[in-house]
Amino acid sequence: MTEKQQWASRVGLVLAMAGNAVGLGNFLRFPAQAAQNGGGAFLIPYLISFFLMGIPLLWVEWAIGRHGGQFGHHSSPGMFDVMGKKKWLKYVGVFGLFTNLTVAAYYCYIESWTLAYTFHSIIGTFKSTKPTEFFPNYLGQTADSLFALPGEATFWFVLTLFLNVWILSRGLSKGIELAAKIGMPLLIVFGAVLAVRGLMISPTDPGVVQSPLEGLNFVWNPDYSGLTNPSVWLAAAGQIFFTLSVGMGSIHCYAAYVGRKNDIALNASSAGWMNEFVEVILGGTILIPIATAYLGLAAVQTATKGGSGFGLGFLTLPTLFNNWGWFAPLAGAMWFGLLFFAGITSSLAMGQPIMAFLQDEFKMKQKGSALTFGAATFVLGFFCVWLYPGGSFDEFDFWTGTFSLVVFALLEVFIFAYIFGMDKGWEEITRGADMKVPEFFRFIIKYVTPVFILVVFLGALVQPANGWADAFRSLTSGGGWPFSASSVIGKILHVGETTAWFDANGKGTATLVKDVTRMLLCTVFAAVSVLVYKAWKNKEKHA
Ligand code: ALA
Repeated sequence: MTEKQQWASRVGLVLAMAGNAVGLGNFLRFPAQAAQNGGGAFLIPYLISFFLMGIPLLWVEWAIGRHGGQFGHHSSPGMFDVMGKKKWLKYVGVFGLFTNLTVAAYYCYIESWTLAYTFHSIIGTFKSTKPTEFFPNYLGQTADSLFALPGEATFWFVLTLFLNVWILSRGLSKGIELAAKIGMPLLIVFGAVLAVRGLMISPTDPGVVQSPLEGLNFVWNPDYSGLTNPSVWLAAAGQIFFTLSVGMGSIHCYAAYVGRKNDIALNASSAGWMNEFVEVILGGTILIPIATAYLGLAAVQTATKGGSGFGLGFLTLPTLFNNWGWFAPLAGAMWFGLLFFAGITSSLAMGQPIMAFLQDEFKMKQKGSALTFGAATFVLGFFCVWLYPGGSFDEFDFWTGTFSLVVFALLEVFIFAYIFGMDKGWEEITRGADMKVPEFFRFIIKYVTPVFILVVFLGALVQPANGWADAFRSLTSGGGWPFSASSVIGKILHVGETTAWFDANGKGTATLVKDVTRMLLCTVFAAVSVLVYKAWKNKEKHA
């Protein structure tokens, strides 16, 4: 029997859950997505997605987790297994392990950049070296190469994994909960200091081209035009998934350590709203306003192309901080330090479900399971490090950090409402609740959320190249559906890319790297499924 773990306090639980949600997505991805999708035009579909999809999914995942925990299951295969009689249910839970493991692989790599950048900010590297030169060197990017073996980046990556493994091996309350209790307040303080300093930039300061308030206005001024643009909806819903960590399996895991009669309704909402505060208020007040002040809004929009925020966060901001004199190294350390705290409290949440699975189903010990998670993340993450220039990292991000979340969320909300059943489901959400959950959420969870996710899923599948109206015109006039290169089908078909794995000189292409990465991810999914199969076979033997 594995040791029984539990949260030490309610504050600790909520901070850990908020730490799970608050991550790099809040400070890098959100501002970049907002900038790419019209600022205030993005905000309205974003908030509606939060309300109709984010909040309901939080309740559903907390409920599935707490319910599974009562049966001794702290990872999703077991939790789904006890939601109905069908044998296939546990395989839906494979997503909750696969996604955490594969997202951790590339997420810990970004996290390690933030640690390295904190160090380099403190020692003043960016005073003499331009981040635009530093970053590609650091990643080992050379013109025309698909591979990289970056010594320094590998060192920081290993150190980051070591820190994750060390904290995870200390257990739930002495590790994860303590890290959240330290990391969350610190990141809020760092974020608040930077936001205030950013807003104090005066239009008359040297190097300033625009007021930072114009950047703020751009993000926050509601613009209803986004409501009629399906691409903005897709981006907004995608951001809600990523930022809340729904559809991953990590919320389920943390909730499994909550007692049967303890509140989940208010806890889930508190963690969710805390995430929104950090994302919209803090995340929206640092990157865009500061960059707008020194570069102008148009340049900010160009710099956020791709929507990851890496360009602004790692290339631009360290240079802009140099305008702040003696405060520059401190500002850099605070910015990358807050990113590190945001990142690690999320990656710990990706590790715990894997450990819980190994402990519950294979009777592994705390330390052994933490080390296994670290080793697996290292091996998978190494592909992201090594094949970064060829695009392996982006493949991980899309298939595991975007696509899988939507698929898992769609399956789980369907299973919750129609197999577990809405009556039992509602009772599970509201048992011990310290708030009155509005009755209409019953209707929303049963009908609106599944349809909403289904539409998002289909939209992502067939997203067209040049707008939806154009695509329908092309379809009705016999020209076929023009898939966007960023749609799921477009990616599978390699739209706009060569389909050849080798060029005329026999050199591997980016398509080769992408396909190798996809095969690797499919292999991981299959391997996790086999582990689940074996675990249940063992149970049957010992029953
Ligand atoms: N929810 C985490 C983030 O926003 C994964 O980064």
